[in-house]
Amino acid sequence: MTDSPAPQNPDPAAASSEAAPEWRNFYGRRSGKTMRPSQKTYLSEDLASLTPQGISKEENPGREVIDPGTIFGNDAPLWLEVGFGGGEHMVHMAARYPGINILGCEPFINGVAMLLGKIRAAGVANVAIWPGDARDVMEVLPEGSVAKAFLNYPDPWPKRRHHRRRFVTQDHLLPLHRILAPGAEFRVATDIPDYMKQALREAPKAGFALTAHTPAPWEDWISTRYEQKALREGRTPDYATFRRA
Ligand SMILES: C[S@@+](CC[C@H](N)C(=O)[O-])C[C@H]1O[C@@H](n2cnc3c(N)ncnc32)[C@H](O)[C@@H]1O
Repeated sequence: MTDSPAPQNPDPAAASSEAAPEWRNFYGRRSGKTMRPSQKTYLSEDLASLTPQGISKEENPGREVIDPGTIFGNDAPLWLEVGFGGGEHMVHMAARYPGINILGCEPFINGVAMLLGKIRAAGVANVAIWPGDARDVMEVLPEGSVAKAFLNYPDPWPKRRHHRRRFVTQDHLLPLHRILAPGAEFRVATDIPDYMKQALREAPKAGFALTAHTPAPWEDWISTRYEQKALREGRTPDYATFRRA
């Protein structure tokens, strides 16, 4: 895992770039655009209390399993969002489903700051944030502990030689499968036909069954920043739903 790449794109809504440094060394470049003073305030005042303990390698070098109940102080169903970007989908889901807890992962610190602003505005309390790689989270969550997972507009890695860096590879899908509960839903949205093709091919190999593949979004979907950018640029959204077998 140490040779995996950085998030492909420092701006979740920006065009893709192939010039990505090492993923696990991304901490030096996690901020892209200049942050507003208000966003710096959100980061300094809110992030620590919303970040679960025991996920980082420094805090948990033995990669002991953590108890999701201690993150939120209750045992409501846990949902996971990988790469929440600006956080619009995550906050939307948290507000729409107050009876669940949602943990979002995003290494791009400007995105984290955007999410924190949205959390303040929406007043949602059922959210937690891992400001880093989703793989760190997947390593320490208990088997079968996640009831639903979202992968919205993942980094496309368009060059063929980089397809192995995509989230829809066995390196990512098998850990995801481990932490999802049997029957749990895994949603994938993308505007890249070849990415969807790879998802449809790889997810079943990792133990996911396709239950829907449509050009229409889920009934409770909210369009994300990256989807809006894709639509502006003439690309077509595509949505797939899998169930963890
Ligand atoms: C193209 S953007 C989409 C953002 C958002 N989901 C949206 O639809 O607007 C992909 C995001 O995934 C994040 N990302 C990439 N690899 C990740 C990983 N392994 N764990 C967590 N986030 C990741 C990137 O930092 C980036 O913000």
